[in-house]
Amino acid sequence: MESLKTLLDGNKAWAAAQVQQDPEFFSRLAKQQAPEYLWIGCSDSRVPANQITNLQPGEVFVHRNIANVVVQTDMNVLSVLQFAVEVLKVKHVIVCGHYGCGGVKAALENQRHGLIDNWLRHIQNIARRREGELEGLDPAKTLDRLCELNVIANAENVARTTIIQDAWDRGQKVDIHSWIYRLDNGLLSSIAPAIQGPR
Ligand code: CO
Repeated sequence: MESLKTLLDGNKAWAAAQVQQDPEFFSRLAKQQAPEYLWIGCSDSRVPANQITNLQPGEVFVHRNIANVVVQTDMNVLSVLQFAVEVLKVKHVIVCGHYGCGGVKAALENQRHGLIDNWLRHIQNIARRREGELEGLDPAKTLDRLCELNVIANAENVARTTIIQDAWDRGQKVDIHSWIYRLDNGLLSSIAPAIQGPR
């Protein structure tokens, strides 16, 4: 209970500071959100989308799951993507992974973890498809490279959804980006050219 009180106190202090900086902040946000970005990232507590991009509430629509996986049968991610593209009309979808991802690491292990193995199977499929690129790398490099390949493959999965294909057919501009985050220095980098629809 003590730790939860810390959160509620922290919230009060944060809300007060926001209002002090910008008295209209909450009344303006309560009326509407108009983010330009959809972030699809890992649930890892060390990779909070708003904080690491220095974005305020209202500026980024966020979906996070273990290892930033995008599967065409996942109603959750598809619903988020549809709302973001068709209603919010985001201009950018950012698939962001991170080095040292526990989900990707677990996918590389020959070990049962329970239900989550079904989810990790998607990452194992990527590892199998790109086997040649992972061959001969030491374990740390293998993990880093698979973290990158996982981002790139999932950005491609976003591009192949009916939601993005339909948006591009309508002439709606939505770019899809492949980014990765370094836990040890807090820096983001782009690891592949953006996948772009019609200009
Ligand atoms: Co992760």
